[in-house]
Amino acid sequence: MTKLRLAIVGAGPAGIYAADILLKAERRFDVSIDLFEQLPAPYGLVRYGVAPDHPRIKGIITALREVLDRGDIRIFGNVRFGEDITLDDLKQHYHAVIFATGAVRDTDLRIPGIDAEGSYGAADFVSWFDGHPDVPRTWPLEAESVAVIGNGNVALDVSRMLAKHAEDLLPTEIPDNVYEGLKASPVTDVHVFGRRGPAQVKFTPLELRELGELRDVDMVVYDEDFEYDEASKAAIASNKQVMVIDRVLQAWRKRPSVNNAGGEASRRLHLHFWAKPVEVKTDQNGRVSAFVYERTRPDGEGGVVGTGEMREVAVQAIYRAVGYFGSPLPGVPFDKRHGVIPNHEGQVLRKDSNERVPGVYATGWIKRGPVGLIGHTKSDAMETVRHIINDQGSWWQPTDPSEEAIPALLASRGVAWTDLDGWHRLDEHEVALGAPQGRARVKVVSRDEMIAVSRGE
Ligand SMILES: Cc1cc2nc3c(=O)[nH]c(=O)nc-3n(C[C@H](O)[C@H](O)[C@H](O)COP(=O)(O)OP(=O)(O)OC[C@H]3O[C@@H](n4cnc5c(N)ncnc54)[C@H](O)[C@@H]3O)c2cc1C
Ligand SMILES: NC(=O)c1ccc[n+]([C@@H]2O[C@H](COP(=O)([O-])OP(=O)(O)OC[C@H]3O[C@@H](n4cnc5c(N)ncnc54)[C@H](OP(=O)(O)O)[C@@H]3O)[C@@H](O)[C@H]2O)c1
Repeated sequence: MTKLRLAIVGAGPAGIYAADILLKAERRFDVSIDLFEQLPAPYGLVRYGVAPDHPRIKGIITALREVLDRGDIRIFGNVRFGEDITLDDLKQHYHAVIFATGAVRDTDLRIPGIDAEGSYGAADFVSWFDGHPDVPRTWPLEAESVAVIGNGNVALDVSRMLAKHAEDLLPTEIPDNVYEGLKASPVTDVHVFGRRGPAQVKFTPLELRELGELRDVDMVVYDEDFEYDEASKAAIASNKQVMVIDRVLQAWRKRPSVNNAGGEASRRLHLHFWAKPVEVKTDQNGRVSAFVYERTRPDGEGGVVGTGEMREVAVQAIYRAVGYFGSPLPGVPFDKRHGVIPNHEGQVLRKDSNERVPGVYATGWIKRGPVGLIGHTKSDAMETVRHIINDQGSWWQPTDPSEEAIPALLASRGVAWTDLDGWHRLDEHEVALGAPQGRARVKVVSRDEMIAVSRGE
């Protein structure tokens, strides 16, 4: 029977689903899979992106864990592709590789002042509140008024985490440093800015509705934003999701906090629409002091045009939540414009041509860009895996496909890799840390500590 030795780089949902689908589907080959992950813990953005107060979604980890626990996939955690292992190494030991490295950083927003002190990318803040080992332990939460730019679900996650009282996050898995940071936050007003209108938002109804349920937080919406054009009316009439969003917003218009009047909560979450980012203003110390935006109006086709009217809101911090962006991998083609690996249905293509790169595949966010839910990575993986199976004739011819070769290589390079047993040890340790406080788990944040616990050191 032909043997397929496959490397997968990235143990987020895309990588794990690809392994699962290949192992379940393929009966013609004897398949063995090694999963390389730069972090000492698997699950990608499910562990380090999904908000801690969304335990139902975090629960997807249970299904991903079942895949890993079946015992037919080896994990090499704390191994970074491009540093600890290279494409040439993989060619010597595998028949093919799937890159499932996702997107970990913020896309740029090119407006004056965006690099000022007090201006942050949502991805960095998300990494902080989700206990990612590679970001600083403290976060400067000193602002009373904050601007969040963007109308996607990440913008809502960030706004909710900023506005929510820290005590209401205690039942979640947030690390202690995050609880302490949020508890000390003096925030009173979070302003969310969308460049288009309520009928063109990217966030989803459930996530919007959740904002209205936050304890001691008033939702503030502005009547002037609801003068709908024909395109907006048509979107509301024809799309159930947009219809529900409109219904939620219309209900908030009737609350006492509408137009900033009469609410009683100690914190407010303002939703501003038709607001295109123009500039971040700073004080004499170079710190964020205001957000300037241009009022827009609909162009009749779902887009907007500027009205020329500039407005300014005094804020001391700004978070841009305008999308994530993929990172290049050494030796692998990269589309700089879209932040993805160029590919046709997961088969990687050479830069600037449609020529295939044999043996190299992509799946998940690095394949199709940073949009879509966890479930979408499953259909992605199916498509990519189908090609791997059909491409047997163009697989690499490894010189040493033995399973012992990789541990020996990593050991020779002094890489302290973690494996599945190590992940179980870390998992149990985190659950035990949470138990005395009645919490599901408390995350270990330090990379060194994660590695030490995993390796039983
Ligand atoms: C803030 C946020 C919240 C979200 N919340 C939800 C939600 O509630 N529900 C939902 O359905 N979807 C949610 N999503 C979307 C969901 O997270 C993505 O659809 C999904 O995680 C994409 O999977 P992926 O495996 O392609 O990428 P990722 O999850 O990013 O996984 C990629 C993995 O590759 C690893 N990696 C990267 N580079 C290297 C390298 N050089 N070497 C080795 N390993 C590497 C990374 O460490 C990571 O573990 C959210 C996204 C974000 C950003
Ligand atoms: N709870 C959940 O289910 C959950 C939570 C988080 C993330 N996710 C998913 O993860 C994916 C990524 O989410 P995301 O919020 O990062 O991306 P997104 O859904 O693409 O939203 C990006 C937002 O940024 C805006 N934007 C982009 N460029 C801008 C600019 N130059 N100026 C002003 N605004 C700009 C976009 O406006 P335009 O529409 O006008 O371009 C849009 O409102 C999505 O599929 C999301 O649903 C899901």
